[in-house]
Amino acid sequence: MQFFLDTADISQIEKGLEWGMVDGVTTNPSLIAKQGKPYLPTVKAIAELVPGPVSGEVLATDYDGMMEQAARLSDLADNVVIKLPLLPDGLRAARSLADQGIKTNVTLCFSANQALLAAKAGATYISPFVGRLDDLGQDGMSLIEEIVEIYDNFGFDTEVLVASVRSPLHVTMAARLGAGVATIPFKVLEQLYRHPMTDKGLAQFLADWEATGKSFDD
Ligand code: G3P
Repeated sequence: MQFFLDTADISQIEKGLEWGMVDGVTTNPSLIAKQGKPYLPTVKAIAELVPGPVSGEVLATDYDGMMEQAARLSDLADNVVIKLPLLPDGLRAARSLADQGIKTNVTLCFSANQALLAAKAGATYISPFVGRLDDLGQDGMSLIEEIVEIYDNFGFDTEVLVASVRSPLHVTMAARLGAGVATIPFKVLEQLYRHPMTDKGLAQFLADWEATGKSFDD
C-alpha cells in the first residue's frame, strides 16, 4: 500500500520524506491556495522534491482548457500526475491523456458509478472522498469497499486512492479493504505513529535503566 501526503506544504513534505513514509503527494487548488504561493511553481517545487507521483489539478472545467493546462502541468516534471474533476469533460480528458501515456487522478468521486466511469476512461487513479461522505452522515469507507469490489470484478487497472482522509481509522480501513493508495494529511500521518502504551512503555524502559545509575556503555 502506498502513502501519499495530501498537502502543498513543503515543510510537511520534507518531514514526511525524512520519515521515509511518503510515496507521493496530492495537491488540490484549496491546498495550494492555503500556501499563498503561485500555482504552477508550487506544483513544480513539490515534484522536484518528491521522487514519486505528484498530483497537480487543472483549474479549467472544459475539455480544451483541461487539455491545455494538463500539457503545462505535465511539462513541469515527469512525475506530475494530472488531476481532473469527475465531469464528462474531465473523463474525456482522462481518456485522451491515457492514450498519450499521461497519468491521471480523477478527483471528487462520491459514488461507485463515478468510479466505474473513471476506470472506463482509463484513469490511473480514482480519488473517492471518504471524509466528505462521512460529513454527510454517509459511510465513506463503504464506497471504497464497493469500488474495490467492482474494479476486482473486471480487472480494471485504475488504482483506488482513498482521499479526504480525516483519521487513522480511515487508513486502517483503506488497508484492510486493499485500496492501493491513501492520501493522508500530515496531521493524520503523525497520528499513525502514536500509541499511549508506546510512550508509557518507553518511559518505563528508560527509567528502569536510569535507576541502575549506569550508562549505555557500562
Ligand atoms: O485532495 C483531495 C482531498 O483529500 C480533500 O480532503 O479533507 O478537503 O475533504 P478534504
